[in-house]
Order: sequence, then structure tokens, then C-alpha cells
Amino acid sequence: MNRRLIVAGNWKMNKNLMEAFTLASGVLAKAKKMSNKVEIVLAPPAPYLHTINSMSKDIAHVNIAAQNCHFESNGAYTGEISAEILHSMKIAYVILGHSERRKYFQETHEILAKKVTTAVKAGMKIIFCCGEPLEIRKSEREESYVLKQLEESLFHLSEAEMQQVVVAYEPIWAIGTGETASPSQAQDMHQFIRMQIAEKYTSEVADACSILYGGSCKPSNAAELFAQKDVDGGLVGGASLQAEDFLQIIQARAKQA
Ligand code: PGA
Repeated sequence: MNRRLIVAGNWKMNKNLMEAFTLASGVLAKAKKMSNKVEIVLAPPAPYLHTINSMSKDIAHVNIAAQNCHFESNGAYTGEISAEILHSMKIAYVILGHSERRKYFQETHEILAKKVTTAVKAGMKIIFCCGEPLEIRKSEREESYVLKQLEESLFHLSEAEMQQVVVAYEPIWAIGTGETASPSQAQDMHQFIRMQIAEKYTSEVADACSILYGGSCKPSNAAELFAQKDVDGGLVGGASLQAEDFLQIIQARAKQA
């Protein structure tokens, strides 16, 4: 298996300036001594990206992610940030398609498809989030729901461009709720996503694509999730806001590397 194992921390709209640098310093001090088998990604709020990127630049297995970017490369879009700007700052990743962006900022499949294209063309790697709401899970339609998200916003990429993509499966009912998908629910969906990538592209592309689990991933459940063969890592929200918890999740991934 040649795909990367990744633990990413999505800080969302949390931490003031001092808190952010304390958290970043805490994580980076330990990350430096950790195995480079696990790639660590930090996604702080946008104003901290540049500084935290500089703080981490000597640790090869740490990368920084923006939490969003605009669908155009530049122009009169007051308040927005483009993938070109992020790329020029040497920010490696951008998270796209997060359920909070879909819900609170009306990001449709179409808008996301444009963002995906713009980010990839700017040279960024993307963490593309997908996942179903509770009512869809209850009616056992989660596979077709997730497939549509992939088809509408991701599968227009070429085979070469797909190499810039990490997928994060984040069931909406598990995000910030304390409820986690069971290891077998996660495995089933990750395997399904990988199969769809294999069908659309090739099995080599699918095998090389890291698929992360997100949704109340924490120190107490990380090991069992990461033990699943198609779960390559985690996209961690709440538990990434405490250095100790986040580091424990990284350790759980490293132990099974
Ligand atoms: P959570 O968030 O870990 O707090 O559930 C995950 C995410 O939204 O990426």
C-alpha cells in the first residue's frame, strides 16, 4: 500500500491569536520527534495560516491546510481567499466540501466542483469532504448520497489531478455530536468510496488515494477506526483543539503504520 497516512486537525473558527500559537507550538514540538510515517495537517483559521506555516516549515511531515477557498482564482470578491493566494503562501492543502460549508454557506455540488477545479489547477492538494445526514443513514441511502457528492463535485478531475486529492468521509450525524460511526460503518463507506474511485479511474488511483474518517474522532476511538483497512487517517475537529488529544490520535495512527 503506497498511500499516505494522515491525521488532520480542523480547528474551524476557534482559538484567538495567543491560543492558536500555543496550540500550534504544543503540537509542533512533539510532532518534530514523531515518526514521519504519519503526515500531520493543521487547518487553523485563515489569519494564522502564514505564521503557522512558517513555524512548521522545517518539519517535513507537517503540512498546513486552509479551511476553504473561493471558486475563482482572483478578482473582486471582497473578503474571500483564493487558491492562488494560498498556493503563493506555500499552503499545501485546502479543505473543500465540509458539511458546515455546505449547510451554512449554501455550497452546492456545482460551486464545489468549481472550487475543486480552481484549487487543483492552482497546484494545491485538497481534502474533499463528503458524508450523509442522519435521515439518509436511517433510510439506508448513504451510499448513493455520497456517490452523488463525489460524482458531482470531484469526478470531473483527470486521473493525474486525482493524485492531489484526499477524501474525508464525515457522516454529518457524527460531526461535533460525540457520536462516532462504528469502525465497520466507517470501513464499509471507505471501501465503497475507494471502489467508486477505482471504477471511475483505475485501481491504482484508488489505492493511492488516502481516505480519512471524520466525525467525533478522539483518543478513545481512534485506534479502532484506524485499524480498518480503508481508513487511512482522520480529519479531527473538536479533539484537535487540545494538543494532548490531537497528539494521542496521531500516536494511534503511527502505532498502526
Ligand atoms: P468533530 O469534527 O471531530 O468535532 O466531530 C470533525 C470535522 O468537522 O471535521
